[in-house]
Amino acid sequence: MGVMMNLPGPKARAIVKRDQDVISPSYPRDYPFVMDHGKGTEVWDVDGNRFLDFAAGIAVVSTGHSHPRVVKAIQEQAEKFIHISSDFYHTKWVELGEKINQIAPFMDNAISFMTNSGAESVEAAIKLARHYTQATEFIGFFGGFHGRTMGAVSFTASKALYHRDFYPMMNGVVHVPYPDPYRPILQSNPGEDYGVTVVRYIEEQVLDRLLPVKNVAGILLEPIQGEGGYVVPTPGFFPALRELCDRHNILLIADEVQSGMGRTGKWWAIEHFGVEPDIVCSAKGIASGMPLGVMFAREHIFNWQRGAHGNTYGGNPLACAAALATIELIEEEYLQNASLMGEYMMGILRQIQARHPVIGQVRGKGLMIGVEFVKDLYTKEPAAKLRDQVVHHAYLRGLI
Ligand SMILES: Cc1ncc(COP(=O)(O)O)c(C=O)c1O
Repeated sequence: MGVMMNLPGPKARAIVKRDQDVISPSYPRDYPFVMDHGKGTEVWDVDGNRFLDFAAGIAVVSTGHSHPRVVKAIQEQAEKFIHISSDFYHTKWVELGEKINQIAPFMDNAISFMTNSGAESVEAAIKLARHYTQATEFIGFFGGFHGRTMGAVSFTASKALYHRDFYPMMNGVVHVPYPDPYRPILQSNPGEDYGVTVVRYIEEQVLDRLLPVKNVAGILLEPIQGEGGYVVPTPGFFPALRELCDRHNILLIADEVQSGMGRTGKWWAIEHFGVEPDIVCSAKGIASGMPLGVMFAREHIFNWQRGAHGNTYGGNPLACAAALATIELIEEEYLQNASLMGEYMMGILRQIQARHPVIGQVRGKGLMIGVEFVKDLYTKEPAAKLRDQVVHHAYLRGLI
């Protein structure tokens, strides 16, 4: 057990107080950590306390905090130019598109649309899917998190709070259960993979009874759910889902905002399941913390015309420079690191689980790992209070 710190310190307390006067209270702050600086996996608060950042800036600093090569790339670019707008061209933007094409999780050429966030990547995917298919409807998943702008939040179904007070949502999203093998809510046939059960439910209940298949543009989901509880689908799920999409000409849209960019030990989490998506949404880890998202898709899907979609900051030079350095570092080192460290971490967590019956499950891929606390191993009743206490005590001992 590490030494307990007396947190927050006086400087942090003062900043939190000033923040409350001027910053939106909607931000979900879990604890009063006020950052001063960071280096690699470590961060320091304004009172000089040191922490290990297990959250990696909420799945963003894929190369650690302020990696020297990322910092240098941003500095060099800033001295040349910071902005020109997406109405023009520049080299780093094209280079990033070429890189995305190399690492895209499908065989076709990849075309990229650059955004400023995860939610904006999801918005772009929704529009591209509607444009390409000329269909309007979508299937999303319970537990999914896709952002908070009006289109993206219509898919988000991890907490009712995200919808409450904001109706009407975007039209055209039907939610179905995520293939969570730990907490299944559908009845499987004897011997059936639970993911296959979910796909059968989509076919027999949703498509046969509710949504005419010709009206469905796409199925949008996280290949591994993030905010919904780090849920890894069963092996049978994605092959069955891909087959269903192929049979009905439905686009498979992977929201890899949290699970992508090497986090799981592969560039994209969907690569663990042996299928290729049609459209991918990325952000978070792609530029080590510079605000950048990319929505990319198979070339033939990008058949929209000039002016159909755009943004001012798309392909921002600083963000592209950071992304290029980030991708190089992930290629050279961090992809393998996520696999190795993920296995190491999972092994240790499983040892802890063996000693503590309050841990219902340890699951994940690479460094995308979830630990589920339960009151009872048999009923699996969530132990939310205990979880919060564990998180808080970790913080007091210097672990975010
Ligand atoms: C899977 C997923 N999609 C989309 C988003 C939204 O990204 P942003 O907060 O950058 O809009 C998130 C953010 O946590 C996410 O985890």
